[in-house]
Amino acid sequence: MPYAHITGWGMAVPEPVLTNDDISKLVDTNDEWIRDRTGIRERRIARENEYPSTLGVAACIKALKVANLAPTDVDLIICTSSSPEYIFPATACLIQDQLGATKAGAFDLLAACTGFIFATNMAAQAIRSGSIKNALVVGTETLSRFVNWKDRNTCILFGDGAGAFVLQASDTPGGVYSAVMHSDGSGGDALSLPGGGARYPATEETVLEGKHYIQMDGKAVFRFATRVMASATKEALAAAKWKVEDLQWVVPHQANIRIIEAAARGLEMSMDRFVVNLERYGNTSTASIPIATVEAVEKGKIKPGDKIVFVGFGGGLTWGAMTAEWTGPIPTKHHVYPEPYRWFGRIRSLARRIWRYIEGFFNRREL
Ligand code: ACO
Repeated sequence: MPYAHITGWGMAVPEPVLTNDDISKLVDTNDEWIRDRTGIRERRIARENEYPSTLGVAACIKALKVANLAPTDVDLIICTSSSPEYIFPATACLIQDQLGATKAGAFDLLAACTGFIFATNMAAQAIRSGSIKNALVVGTETLSRFVNWKDRNTCILFGDGAGAFVLQASDTPGGVYSAVMHSDGSGGDALSLPGGGARYPATEETVLEGKHYIQMDGKAVFRFATRVMASATKEALAAAKWKVEDLQWVVPHQANIRIIEAAARGLEMSMDRFVVNLERYGNTSTASIPIATVEAVEKGKIKPGDKIVFVGFGGGLTWGAMTAEWTGPIPTKHHVYPEPYRWFGRIRSLARRIWRYIEGFFNRREL
């Protein structure tokens, strides 16, 4: 059975920064309260022409570059997002088209902030089953579009960004070892985005009622998160037959520093072994774990051979953890430049649209 190695990683965040002081001009809050209760100092906000697909593509290109893999060699793209571009088509298909990943099957997976763990586990399982060789997993968000900038309970928390992993098959032991995935739909109303779906299709009334904004019972989510972070980590460690002492790093979902500190207490681990960067990005939902990982690798913290747990929680309710031994790119003699494939992808996409138009024109039936 092949192993599923994480061989590439990339992140993309919008440039505009929104500080706590900026938010204090919108709602009754202040920098001290936000830093004290959440650990967040600032977050990035997407420009008007930035979307989950564009941020996702930028992160994927970087991940493919690290892995030295051409988009045309990708077999599967799983995109996970709490703020997808549309209900359908899947954001994964938009990314597949923009990357020029012509052979890849692409779909979205929705598990709110736990999405990246669920998606990476699904990609790893597909590789381990032998059915595919190369997969791209991307978590990408423009949550700022779903935040009510008049609600101080939620608007202080979220930020925009994207992160991606490349997973590849190899016979060398390493990569993803175990994962646990959990859900409890009875808590779905603790964190939701009710408007625009089949229950509350968009109407003037749903917009006036603010159903298109994130709704959250912060305290309930906080209690749930502090319960499950340590327990999920322990479960994933047991499944891999690892102990807490074997771990070099825990990469937690970046929601609130107090939730991460509770997890550290529950695991009796020092905070030094937790990767934390939420002070600069806030909660980027599905993108938070890969963004934190990419920064830790680039700073030389995470190194080949390190044993890591990724752990997260989110709306659904969902929670999960995954163990992996960090490896890095599979050595090859060829150098691949993924960017030019985007141009190839654009030309191919345009040609296909023109062809569909011509096909439609000649197939028009007289009524
Ligand atoms: N600024 C100033 N005061 C505030 C603010 C604010 N932004 N927000 C709330 N307050 C006030 C409250 O009104 C309350 O005042 P009161 O005591 O007079 O009633 C007081 O501060 C305390 O409020 P709490 O809600 O108890 O504050 P808490 O310490 O619980 O922090 C927070 C709130 C930050 C939202 C916290 O509960 C939290 O982080 N919860 C988890 C949220 C989360 O992680 N969500 C994402 C999940 S992942 C996903 O799937 C997207």
